[in-house]
Amino acid sequence: MLLPSRRPRWKLAESLVTDERLAFGRRRLIGGMAAAAGLAVAGCKEEASQAVAATEAAAPADPSAALYPAARNAAFDLPEPWTPERLAAGYNNFIEFGSHKNIQRAAQALPTRPWTVTVDGLVAEPMTIDIDDLLRRMPLEERVYRHRCVETWAMIVPWSGFALRHLLDLAEPLASARYVLFQTFEDSAVAPGQRAFWYPWPYTEAVTLAEAGNDLAFMVTGLYGKPLPRQNGAPLRLALPWKYGYKSIKSIERISLVEERPDTFWNVVDGNEYGFWANVNPAVPHPRWSQATERLLGTQEDVPTLLFNGYAEEVAGLYPNLMDKSLYR
Ligand code: MTE
Repeated sequence: MLLPSRRPRWKLAESLVTDERLAFGRRRLIGGMAAAAGLAVAGCKEEASQAVAATEAAAPADPSAALYPAARNAAFDLPEPWTPERLAAGYNNFIEFGSHKNIQRAAQALPTRPWTVTVDGLVAEPMTIDIDDLLRRMPLEERVYRHRCVETWAMIVPWSGFALRHLLDLAEPLASARYVLFQTFEDSAVAPGQRAFWYPWPYTEAVTLAEAGNDLAFMVTGLYGKPLPRQNGAPLRLALPWKYGYKSIKSIERISLVEERPDTFWNVVDGNEYGFWANVNPAVPHPRWSQATERLLGTQEDVPTLLFNGYAEEVAGLYPNLMDKSLYR
């Protein structure tokens, strides 16, 4: 994730900051070096993924493995080519484990069993449910979604999981509930990034209840027909494909139904750069870069960004005033 430019200097050590221009410059440099060596840019990622494969092999088997692959929902399919699995699982944003893309090895430290998910707040049936019980109760399916990071990289991957509304139905939101707040784990002993005291841990995100009830809002438990890797947010993350990727919070422990719009992680860090709504729109630039184009991981070409990341038909009805620019940052 990109760190904001207008941070108070006392808040952030420069060594922890990757400025976007530097990050892109560095990527270009690495790309050039790799090309000179006759390698694909993905080559260095491949090494990283092999190292991770070894680390993952040493981890205990995932008890939900037999549930995958789930049947694909034809309503949410996209033609191949998709993003290669090794890139989807080897190029990640998970600031709890580092403010760079190569966090997959560090993320293996996250214990994902036992894991419970609490649904509370303005609901008739508050609950704390074991992740494996939840997986047995939910109708698992596979959906191929586009994912667009605010940093302009993108991917297309087959997620497995269940529609968020199925979980909300279990808890029965009260009439007064207007927002759904998601919260990640908090444990700086396994997630060194959480020792950065200037961030408002734990990572949180929120959407309106109407957005949460949209068919596209998906709770992810698997990737590429297998249990979700830790670096992608095991055992439970959100996928909101029409919004910038920072809304798709990983490793969720608590979901709270609330009346007032809650604070959310990046919005608190810098609300000017990371809005609450964060709907993808090529015409509304980030304060520090254009959002007009994006680059799919593993490709070398910038292609036009799509309004609502290509999901306008499904979600435009959620927003009565589509001209309101604050919806798109
Ligand atoms: N969730 C948590 N808990 N911590 C994070 O740093 N990063 C977000 C989102 N969810 C993040 C998170 C961002 S910026 C993006 S683009 C996606 O996760 C990246 O998901 P991926 O690594 O599976 O591609």
